[in-house]
Amino acid sequence: MTENRQITKAVIPAAGLGTRFLPATKAMPKEMLPVVDRPAIQYVVAEAVRAGLQDVLMITGRSKRALEDHFDRVPGLEASLAAKGDDEKLALVNEATALGDIHFVRQIDPQGLGHAVLCAKRHVGDEAFAVLLGDDLIGEQESLLEEMMKVQIATGGSVVALMEVEPESISAYGCADVTEIDGEDYVKVNGLVEKPAPEDAPSNLAIIGRYVLSPKVFEVLEQTGPGRGGEIQLTDALETLAQDTTPGGGVYAVKFTGRRYDTGDKLSYLKAVVELACAREDLGSGLKPWLKEFAKEL
Ligand code: G1P
Repeated sequence: MTENRQITKAVIPAAGLGTRFLPATKAMPKEMLPVVDRPAIQYVVAEAVRAGLQDVLMITGRSKRALEDHFDRVPGLEASLAAKGDDEKLALVNEATALGDIHFVRQIDPQGLGHAVLCAKRHVGDEAFAVLLGDDLIGEQESLLEEMMKVQIATGGSVVALMEVEPESISAYGCADVTEIDGEDYVKVNGLVEKPAPEDAPSNLAIIGRYVLSPKVFEVLEQTGPGRGGEIQLTDALETLAQDTTPGGGVYAVKFTGRRYDTGDKLSYLKAVVELACAREDLGSGLKPWLKEFAKEL
């Protein structure tokens, strides 16, 4: 049982090919695409660390070395900035390294998200843990992960984050059938289905890229065969857990209404860059008046 145990580990699957962003991602991992001036993955790691998850495991694959380099030291650059007394840039260089304890595991054979999460089994052990998908950015002011961690500790089950989407968009997501729980601000998940056709979807509640999982998910993933797209789907393992009434079983959900950006999608990526830049002290004052003028021309 996981009650009264602290959740300390985050798993970030980052082995995907990023084909939605070709040709930019031909030689560069999609997670390294800059959102204003930081790679998308740095926001995700920072979110995990903010929630108290200091131990971060990234599941990478071939051509992802830039991710390891980004979270490593660069002694030559650091020494030259220090010699110049450029503390501001030095702090920026050190930001990613200072975030926490980051580990890497390589998914040799990319067989889907469920398989990527299974690659974390040895590192995570018998503890509840968070999963953050690198494509999803959650606004810095949100406390989604903290809320989900509380629900995991209260229920001992697994927790997903759901967001309402337009019914026709549900086929891009895992979809949940839920029941409200009296007196609670989270819901019980009755069933989950990966990327259903809109006419078959049980709701318009989409799974977004944050999970807090019971370690029981590993046993289930080991028994989960290929699902949609021939891949081992995390959603399918969670569907099995949703039907499991033994300790560690059960799936719950937090409904999220805050800011979320899918940086794996071009339009959503552009919106993320513009919104985050507008909110920045150093860039907002220059960008906002220009945007207003530009919008008049559209
Ligand atoms: C994955 C999951 C899906 C979830 C989505 C959230 O799909 O399989 O259930 O809704 O992330 O972003 P992907 O976007 O990797 O195809």
